[in-house]
Amino acid sequence: MNTKAGVERRGFIALVVGWCALAVAFGSSAVASVRFLIPNVLYEPSRRFRLGRPEEFPEGSTFMEELRLFVLRKGNSFRALSAVCTHLGCTVNRAADGRTYFCPCHGSHFNETGGVSGGPAPKALSWHEMSVTKDGRLLVDLSRTVQPDKYLVV
Ligand code: FES
Repeated sequence: MNTKAGVERRGFIALVVGWCALAVAFGSSAVASVRFLIPNVLYEPSRRFRLGRPEEFPEGSTFMEELRLFVLRKGNSFRALSAVCTHLGCTVNRAADGRTYFCPCHGSHFNETGGVSGGPAPKALSWHEMSVTKDGRLLVDLSRTVQPDKYLVV
């Protein structure tokens, strides 16, 4: 039985439900629009690594396997040479002469300064910036390269 009060109540409920649905639609659209304006940014992890105290490194070359890096010490001067081959990214080894480097994957050779002396590698190995932390440890920044003749003197 449809009375006038019943029709008005159903109409009122339909009106409220309609307005609520409209509010939800506008609200979610507004949230999506604001989210669209905020860029997605991927922050890369830091490429700076603390290596240890200078006196912990022996004279000559120390290979840091986890960083694929040679730390070269000559007296109180330090340098950091990447062991990542510039051809396809294999890890280079020190040659038997103790001064040059070779890549076991496709045979690239690098001289003492990391320059290409043979093989398919398109460019020299990278030298990385080194510094000393406030607590006296060596720090290497793998995101920054330096010239082969740059030393850190501690
Ligand atoms: S990856 Fe080193 S020569 Fe190819």
